[in-house]
Amino acid sequence: MNAYELRETIGADGLLLNRERTEPEAGPGEVKIRVRATSLNFRDLLIAGGKYPARQDASLVPLSDGAGEVVAIGAGVSRFQVGERVAGTFFQGWSGGAIPADVSGRALGGTADGMLAEYVVLPEAGVIHSPGHLSFEEAATLPCAGVTAWNAVVETGRVRAGDTVLLLGTGGVSMFALQFAKLHGAQVIIASSSDEKLARAKALGADTLINYRSTPDWELEVLKATGGRGVDMVVEVGGAGTLEKSIKSVRVGGFIAIIGVLAGLGQIDPRPIIGRAVRLQGIFVGSGEMFASMNRALTGAALKPVIGRSFAFEEAKQAYGYQAQGSHFGKVVVTVGS
Ligand SMILES: NC(=O)c1ccc[n+]([C@@H]2O[C@H](COP(=O)([O-])OP(=O)(O)OC[C@H]3O[C@@H](n4cnc5c(N)ncnc54)[C@H](OP(=O)(O)O)[C@@H]3O)[C@@H](O)[C@H]2O)c1
Repeated sequence: MNAYELRETIGADGLLLNRERTEPEAGPGEVKIRVRATSLNFRDLLIAGGKYPARQDASLVPLSDGAGEVVAIGAGVSRFQVGERVAGTFFQGWSGGAIPADVSGRALGGTADGMLAEYVVLPEAGVIHSPGHLSFEEAATLPCAGVTAWNAVVETGRVRAGDTVLLLGTGGVSMFALQFAKLHGAQVIIASSSDEKLARAKALGADTLINYRSTPDWELEVLKATGGRGVDMVVEVGGAGTLEKSIKSVRVGGFIAIIGVLAGLGQIDPRPIIGRAVRLQGIFVGSGEMFASMNRALTGAALKPVIGRSFAFEEAKQAYGYQAQGSHFGKVVVTVGS
């Protein structure tokens, strides 16, 4: 079968299309999936560049996110049937409950083979039905960015109608967070590098738009927009480059979901966190149960993920390059097969 393998951690050039990788077969308790679409996350760029913990052999199949159809089931599989549309869960070892200590041990496209292949075989517990109203491309965007945003905004952030949520950028996590915050009746303030992207975010329901390039002191704009109070929640994907401003943007006693490091690493002064009694919580994607809850919400509201651009399987390297440029809006998808 055709599958990409991360042969070297030198960026997208380290990807090799192996046209003769052995097709996996479903053993007892396993589900064989014909992958129809995958999607990229910032993490996939880090893994390709050797900047994220991943299996270090020359045959790792990249990408955590993919969706397809069940083509075979092993003995004892009870939740799935041939022909059903499914996706894999990001963490293969976190079905529900509290996050396990060894959660990273089986993460698709990192410590375990991922989805950029024609066929994958996963344990039944690591597979989830896709919402019926979504295409394969749309369903492929959910496992990492979707579940992370759902965990941050809904499961851990407990957003309520009338809350104000601050989002940074218009990438995959932020666009899901926008949709989930609006679904729950929150006001959304969004900061982006681009006026054109801000206009697209407005069309998706964003209430207050800030260009963080032309307004470097964007935390002051956030305070102005909230009458000096600050936002109830920040979905923090920037890291050290933005966290200080996020802490200034949040209300006393507010919540910051610590998710990403788009703007780099660094040190942070704990004093304003203490003085303003801010709650910071690391978010690490989410469980299979959270994925199922999100899917119910997507189905109930007929919500569709935001796809910025789609690439063919043979164009996977270009898709990596496009994601790395940061010019995308929402998710970047790579289709698999016809
Ligand atoms: N903890 C977890 O479980 C988890 C899960 C998923 C992702 N993450 C992390 O979350 C971050 C976002 O991931 P993603 O996949 O959504 O990324 P992405 O789709 O690649 O998002 C990139 C976008 O972020 C915005 N951005 C870049 N630098 C920024 C800055 N300095 N300030 C504000 N916005 C900035 C840009 O949007 P504009 O052009 O609109 O400004 C850019 O297009 C990454 O660091 C990723 O590793 C963590």
